Amino acid sequence: MRHEPFQNAPVAENTSVKIRPAELRDLPALLAIYNHAVAHLTALWTDRLEDLDGRRSWLLARRNAGFPVLVAVDGEDQVLGYGSYGWFRPADGYRKTVEHSVYVNPGLQGGGIGTALLKALIDHAKSAGMHVMIAAIDGENGGSIRFHEQHGFAESGRLPQAGTKFGRWLDLVLMTRVLDVGDTPASSMSAKLDA
Ligand SMILES: CC(C)(COP(=O)(O)OP(=O)(O)OC[C@H]1O[C@@H](n2cnc3c(N)ncnc32)[C@H](O)[C@@H]1OP(=O)(O)O)[C@@H](O)C(=O)NCCC(=O)NCCS
Repeated sequence: MRHEPFQNAPVAENTSVKIRPAELRDLPALLAIYNHAVAHLTALWTDRLEDLDGRRSWLLARRNAGFPVLVAVDGEDQVLGYGSYGWFRPADGYRKTVEHSVYVNPGLQGGGIGTALLKALIDHAKSAGMHVMIAAIDGENGGSIRFHEQHGFAESGRLPQAGTKFGRWLDLVLMTRVLDVGDTPASSMSAKLDA
């Protein structure tokens, strides 16, 4: 589904947006945002609507792995959007690379909420010693592609027709940002030899 340009300025200018870790009480809001994307957007390549148990398992799995699930909330602690990251691929050679996603409540997009979430995720990843962040985006999702460009991500790969939803093929665009220019980490092999 193509993302339409913003039609209004959604969040009142004086609304203060706070970013905090997601709690179990946020699950209904996280579920609603997730299921809206499943039903209406190509931001998520699945047709399977989730339930609260599924979202709870996801949240706890992310937490237990030490990954952030962050929510943006308004002054009354209502969830406006969320963001998270997890491993890009499971092999240990990818241990410094994470894949993230950000979702803002439909109707609240274009008000800076996604920016606040993405900045917090980038800060978290830097603090956790991650080296690269990757967004895997539907090639039709020009809004998300521009959003990531604004935050220093660059297109690094395009996989034609890598997925399908709503009866058509979708291209996967990989956008990456290198977070630091630190030293190459010691290989697990040399770490063992030194021990
Ligand atoms: C993509 C998304 C997370 C961005 O969050 P946001 O709060 O809407 O974005 P912000 O207000 O912080 O930043 C706005 C910038 O993002 C880009 N952008 C985001 N969505 C856009 C849209 N629908 N149309 C045009 N530009 C868009 C623009 O570059 C815009 O900057 P500009 O207003 O100066 O042109 C949000 O729109 C969203 O949840 N979209 C649906 C789900 C999705 O696609 N998630 C990303 C999966 S990888």
